[in-house]
Amino acid sequence: MNSFPEQLGAYTQQVEAYLDTCFTGKYDYQVLTDAMRYSLLAGGKRLRPVLCLAFCKAVGGDPDRILPGACAIEMVHTYSLIHDDLPCMDNDDYRRGKPTCHKVYGYDMAMLAGDGLLTAAFHQIAAMDADAVKRIRCVEVLSAGAGEHGMVAGQVLDLLGEHQHLGEEALRGIHRRKTGALIAAACEMGVILGGGTEQQLAAARDFALSLGMAFQIRDDMLDEIGTQEELGKPIGSDAGNEKSTFVTLLGLDACQRLVEQETDQALRALDHGGFDHVEFLTELSKMLTGRTK
Ligand code: IPE
Ligand code: IPE
Ligand code: MG
Ligand code: MG
Ligand code: MG
Repeated sequence: MNSFPEQLGAYTQQVEAYLDTCFTGKYDYQVLTDAMRYSLLAGGKRLRPVLCLAFCKAVGGDPDRILPGACAIEMVHTYSLIHDDLPCMDNDDYRRGKPTCHKVYGYDMAMLAGDGLLTAAFHQIAAMDADAVKRIRCVEVLSAGAGEHGMVAGQVLDLLGEHQHLGEEALRGIHRRKTGALIAAACEMGVILGGGTEQQLAAARDFALSLGMAFQIRDDMLDEIGTQEELGKPIGSDAGNEKSTFVTLLGLDACQRLVEQETDQALRALDHGGFDHVEFLTELSKMLTGRTK
């Protein structure tokens, strides 16, 4: 039985190794795949694919067999970061410890690298070695989490909310979509690909939406109290863009309490799934409450 850090390290390494095999061909349009790999392989915590692998194991599946699905989520997530950093959105120059994609490849190629990653994600799922019904359900879940009622909707609400004073309900609606929805898709895909039950699917979703809320509130806090060195991205971005965040609404202390409450709620949701591997999911969730990157 691996310790938590060993298990987390093993999952992360599997994800890194798989991602490194992607988009390696030589083409006369290779600037595109270079830009895609630049952002995809720049590091990052790999939280979403790790959750996908962990939920697969939690329902008795074999995580080694679902790497393309787990990595598809990381491709969608990376695309969302590339576009989030563009001057027309958050206008940030630094991501994952390196200059942002558009700083290196230009706005045009950064936009297209995002398009390429989003599209490739669905190719990964369609082409993976899994039962066709499972693959279709993954397409359904990932497109819903990422799409016009999920992450993209959250990004729209986030932009529309600039220069406004949003209340808690509005902020929860934004965070649930822009961050929670993709984390939920990751956990649900793990359950689907691992062969879990509908009850486990619902429990994984409830877990993920609370965890995602905690994760984004902590992200809002780190925009104030983090360091660029550790985070790998600029601090003060939210204030610079006049965003309403949980920090502007409630202050740092109340935010940390909320992060812990949402995490407790996430952990309670796990009780309804009858999952294995709960210790890993619990340790991971608790670690994220105090994260500094
Ligand atoms: C950043 O996500 C965007 C948010 C939803 C807060 P992560 O904090 O997971 O970023 P990486 O993947 O580790 O770079
Ligand atoms: C972005 O939220 C969530 C995404 C969908 C990318 P933020 O704009 O706060 O994420 P960071 O702080 O730039 O990583
Ligand atoms: Mg943003
Ligand atoms: Mg941003
Ligand atoms: Mg942020």
